[in-house]
Amino acid sequence: MAILVNDNKIFTLNTKNTTYQMYVNEDGILFHSYYGAKMEYSDLSYASHKNGWMASFSANPKGKRYSHNHTSEELSCFGVGDFRLSALALVNHDGTIGAEPVYHSHKVVKGKYQIKGLPAFYGDEGETLVITLKDKAYDVYFHMYYGVLEEYDLITRAMVVENKTDSEIKLNKALSMSLDLVSGSYDMIHFHGAHMRERQLERTRITHLTSTVSSVRGASSHMQNPFVIVCDKGANEEYGSAYGIGLVYSGNFVISAEKDQHETTRIVAGINPECFEYTVFPNDTFETPEVALVYSNEGFGKLSNNYHKAIRNNLCRGKYKYTRRPVLINNWEATYFDFNADKLVSMANDASALGVELFVMDDGWFGHRDDDHTSLGDWFVNEKKLQGSLENLVKRINSLGMQFGIWFEPECISEDSELFRAHPDYRFAIPNRDPQESRQQYVLDMSRKEVRDNIYDQMVKVLESANITYLKWDFNRHITDLYSVALPKERQGEIYHRYMLGVYELLERITQKFPDILFESCSGGGGRFDMGMLYYMPQVWTSDDSDAIDRLKIQYGTSFAYPVRTMGAHVSVCPNHGNARVTPLKTRGNVAYFGTYGLELDITKMTSEEKQEIKRQIAEFKEYYDLIQFGDYYRLLSPFTPEESRYCAWETVKADGSEALVCTVAYESKCTVPPELLKVKGLIPNKMYRINDSEEKYLGSALMNIGFWLDYDHVSYPSRLYHITLA
Ligand code: DGJ
Repeated sequence: MAILVNDNKIFTLNTKNTTYQMYVNEDGILFHSYYGAKMEYSDLSYASHKNGWMASFSANPKGKRYSHNHTSEELSCFGVGDFRLSALALVNHDGTIGAEPVYHSHKVVKGKYQIKGLPAFYGDEGETLVITLKDKAYDVYFHMYYGVLEEYDLITRAMVVENKTDSEIKLNKALSMSLDLVSGSYDMIHFHGAHMRERQLERTRITHLTSTVSSVRGASSHMQNPFVIVCDKGANEEYGSAYGIGLVYSGNFVISAEKDQHETTRIVAGINPECFEYTVFPNDTFETPEVALVYSNEGFGKLSNNYHKAIRNNLCRGKYKYTRRPVLINNWEATYFDFNADKLVSMANDASALGVELFVMDDGWFGHRDDDHTSLGDWFVNEKKLQGSLENLVKRINSLGMQFGIWFEPECISEDSELFRAHPDYRFAIPNRDPQESRQQYVLDMSRKEVRDNIYDQMVKVLESANITYLKWDFNRHITDLYSVALPKERQGEIYHRYMLGVYELLERITQKFPDILFESCSGGGGRFDMGMLYYMPQVWTSDDSDAIDRLKIQYGTSFAYPVRTMGAHVSVCPNHGNARVTPLKTRGNVAYFGTYGLELDITKMTSEEKQEIKRQIAEFKEYYDLIQFGDYYRLLSPFTPEESRYCAWETVKADGSEALVCTVAYESKCTVPPELLKVKGLIPNKMYRINDSEEKYLGSALMNIGFWLDYDHVSYPSRLYHITLA
């Protein structure tokens, strides 16, 4: 039993290595006691802040035994005396502000809960605890959901607000959680970035100032990721306490942490309250997105491994959850908009000879789109450009033994489109104001069903017209000019969230209708790389920056939460289109292996030597596929600390420790280089191993505690793979 409830209303959630405990006090308040390393069952309520030293509330003549500002409550509410970061700001039907939730009931249910209309981890093997709180004064209920997936140390939280009064209430803030760490001092690690520079690691101290990562872009964004780690000052890959906080959501979000006047660290996470105001009608509910927590007292490596497994096994869905995904070639960096059917077929022809299995036609096949000024929203084939029907092109590609994939940007519209001429009100625009243009395009109001239906029908028509087995779902700008003609003026604060609910609904419909299609999420590269999207699409184009050296940081940063299997990674041409860097083809291949591995270049222009190298890479990638995609992933040398090593290195190990693959890339060149020993992880200590079939044998614990000598290649940006096998 992962969830224990005792008669005194002490609720304990246990995973393999962690314990989370709450209890209800004499006044019905749900207090947080503890979250951290696993413990034998015991009442831990003594550890929570019950009585504040500021007696203003606790000396209340009515005998109240707590002050909301000094206690650690599972649902921290604005307006009733808690002046810190809060999770809920509610306006009651009579205009009064605040809620004082007290215990009402609880239930434990087999299986992990799901949330209406929102992505969430799933699993029959999981368990769910629902604690229902009710406001003391009003018929408003707060159903606090706790999901437990024991094996991965994963605890999820979400909240459903239910309005049982007879008139409407408003939510000005409804976050997914607040969590108090009563003692200790912590750092926050977060992953900021930009277009073509996503998920750069930054570590800051959590102080009495509020540390916040957030987005108001209508997408989780390139700039911040809805995932942070809160950890001990000394925590590293192997040691120390670390809490992962990841939102299963793709829209506006906030994750904040601060130390309060008692030195308690409070963390809150959920939908960004900026421009959020949600009306909940009588007998209706509001569901928050889910937050996914993992605690590790063995540093970040363990924490990441648990997220990786949980995401692979209990978040991603569909045919391609476990099956090998085809090696693809995408024409974007090869042709941009300048292609026709013959050009694509000749690329496919050369690619198929090398073992590439899927050809992806990117942006530019529809309407009359030859640049990025037109035709978004017109999802019908440009037969002039494709020199005939899509079916015909797909047949030509299929006859080469290759599958066919296609690009869409379903959420956007160009002014120069038939869709815009027929339905100018479908895009977000504020009456009497020219909407902001970005990449010459606008965002469709996906909160409206008729808009989604229009796009759905168009997409289905295309997808049914030919043998299509892959779809790249792109989103290339952010939301501005927020105004929906579908909602009255007092409910415009719902649009950002309703937009996300609409996108999720459309995604669910399309992915269920075409269960055999492999979906890849994209947003100008990695602008929406989050757990929400991974519920619908099992891989994400990690970045438009395809340079192998830049990718070291991007993929390293991404790996803290997201598994290798979810990271779209392609070999592209040199000099790189983004930064003009020249790197060895082998290095580009090795970096792309630790992602989905594909190609994105004009293969017809490659020399025969280069083609042979690609052929070798495809064979090698397939050979290591299971080890890379399903092994335990370890970060060994960080590209963010060049002072420690000029190498970036990482490793994937079979669960039983019998086999590992290590990749190194030297991102700095020096004339004299001191030789370096690299320590690996996850091997069996007392077993002997060989490296790349070496004569020499190494003891597992020697490789883990001393390491092995790295080879040096006299080229710029050399990369090596070290295959470690039992001797
Ligand atoms: C942005 C994506 O990240 C690229 O890979 C490509 O699909 C372009 N959009 C097409 O417009």
